[in-house]
Amino acid sequence: MLELKNVSTQYGQIPILMNVSINLEAGEAVCLLGANGAGKTTLLKTILGMVKPVSGEVVFNGQVISKLPPHQIIKSGIAIVPEREGLFPKLSLENNLLMGAYYEEDKAKIQERVKEVFKIFPWIEKRIHQKAGTLSGGERKMLGVARALLANPQVMLMDEPSLGLAPATVNEVFTVIQNIKKEKNIALLIIEQNAQKALSVVERGYVLQKGSIIVQGTSEELYNDDFVQKSYLCVD
Ligand SMILES: Nc1ncnc2c1ncn2[C@@H]1O[C@H](COP(=O)(O)OP(=O)(O)O)[C@@H](O)[C@H]1O
Ligand SMILES: [Mg+2]
Repeated sequence: MLELKNVSTQYGQIPILMNVSINLEAGEAVCLLGANGAGKTTLLKTILGMVKPVSGEVVFNGQVISKLPPHQIIKSGIAIVPEREGLFPKLSLENNLLMGAYYEEDKAKIQERVKEVFKIFPWIEKRIHQKAGTLSGGERKMLGVARALLANPQVMLMDEPSLGLAPATVNEVFTVIQNIKKEKNIALLIIEQNAQKALSVVERGYVLQKGSIIVQGTSEELYNDDFVQKSYLCVD
């Protein structure tokens, strides 16, 4: 459904992604593991059209999207939960949430999605008029996920959902991811450094190192991979 075909990107003259090929099928959950600076966020920005490939292409539902502007790509069904949630701290949870439905004109549909989101995140409904700036790190992360759901996407990109969160909160975030997987037919591409957690919710994964995919396989294959164990699972 979503495919990067031999994608290379550069910032100026500096190569970042090198011949990256990955794919994501409808309803599937896939993780992309990689150290700081490996190019993970750049890969997501490339999917969203914010970074243009110097070679290769991004294909979504059979259409090359890598030349489209970001708003058109987002409109076509790809939502993102950015690394730093990108919320508006002075606005209410409600207004932050509704930004996810920016491209939906049908008010009834928006209301329906809001109700569904309240089922997954009851606390958001209770605090809907509170300002987003008053939320804890974990709550902000959840609101970022909720906002992405308001777009009713076919694909949700999540940039390091566990980053900067306490272990118990990381568990809560991954429980939410697990629920979304169960209840919705959304394909998830989860960027993570927490391989233990990521591999527990996805079917497959890739490892990105210095801009290249160096390992790929099922979650089980990645669990048992020497490189993944040494670099991400702290197994000696
Ligand atoms: N806008 C930019 N201009 C120039 N270099 C950048 C820019 N954004 C990121 N980089 C560099 O590209 C590399 C990959 O960054 P990034 O994709 O953010 O990595 P990751 O998300 O895996 O930590 C890093 O060396 C980073 O410093
Ligand atoms: Mg990043």
